[in-house]
Amino acid sequence: MASKDDGTEDDRQTLLPCSSSTSLTLHHASGDHQVRGLPILIATILICTFLNVGLAVWVAQRWKDGQLVQDGDRFCVHHLSRWSPLVEQVEPNWHTVLFNGSFLKESSYRGPAGPETDAAWEALGGDYRSVVIPETEAEEAGLGPDHVRISQHYGGGLPANVEGLHHIHCLNLLRKTLWWNYEYYRDLKLGAFKNAEFIVRYHATHCLDILRQQLMCVPDVGVFGQVWYQPEGEPRPIAFTDFNTKHKCRDHEAVRKWAEEHQLPPEKDVDMSLFYEMPGPGVFVNPEVP
Ligand SMILES: *[C@@H]1O[C@H](CO)[C@@H](O)[C@H](O)[C@H]1NC(C)=O
Repeated sequence: MASKDDGTEDDRQTLLPCSSSTSLTLHHASGDHQVRGLPILIATILICTFLNVGLAVWVAQRWKDGQLVQDGDRFCVHHLSRWSPLVEQVEPNWHTVLFNGSFLKESSYRGPAGPETDAAWEALGGDYRSVVIPETEAEEAGLGPDHVRISQHYGGGLPANVEGLHHIHCLNLLRKTLWWNYEYYRDLKLGAFKNAEFIVRYHATHCLDILRQQLMCVPDVGVFGQVWYQPEGEPRPIAFTDFNTKHKCRDHEAVRKWAEEHQLPPEKDVDMSLFYEMPGPGVFVNPEVP
């Protein structure tokens, strides 16, 4: 109790330097001292005003959505993302990336259908197995009582996929269905291509439309300009779009790594007939493909 009182006394002395010096000045400001005290009073008021305005500006700059923002990354990741364990566990590490917008030079992701181009895409994590979301984090992550659960025998929790990696999977599938690639992947009969062609079509247009919605969800409002290009034999250079622009990017590698580490065991390592908790009474079962 006693130490608590001392603390309050200390606070009063240290937190109110302006008020106490103002009252000191006022005590002096009487009779002959009035003229001498006045400049001190004015100086004190000016200093206090300056400090208060400074504090107000400092707070105003950091005040966002009812909270004081010190760590911009932390604020942004909570403000802009649906909550998931990755919001807490994966550092966004926003940094500037120069996009490679080359029109003619092929990168490893643009190569012909084949094992090399496939390996480049697979390294991005688009084909990882689902991750497990613990029961305690399900609700906050937007997973409800109607979502599929893993049986207690296999540790419980809910199977889920990281949205951003599904987008990579989708773009990779669209690459495989490009008309000049399609035959190669159709004949390999792997992954999505194990299905009948009409299912592959559904899969590809599902992917196309998911990517459309994702791009419309986060429209990049940066701009790109044009640069000069002198074609051989032409009298004048021509203006050519410059796609090599800088972007503020999240750390994809950290997201990929999290998803890799949290994958479910491979299907061959579990008894799939016991893997899921079958829906109990009251759990909604869709009468058609959602
Ligand atoms: C873009 O990638 C290609 C192929 O990897 C490379 O040759 C080119 O130099 C890169 N361009 C830039 C601007 O980095």
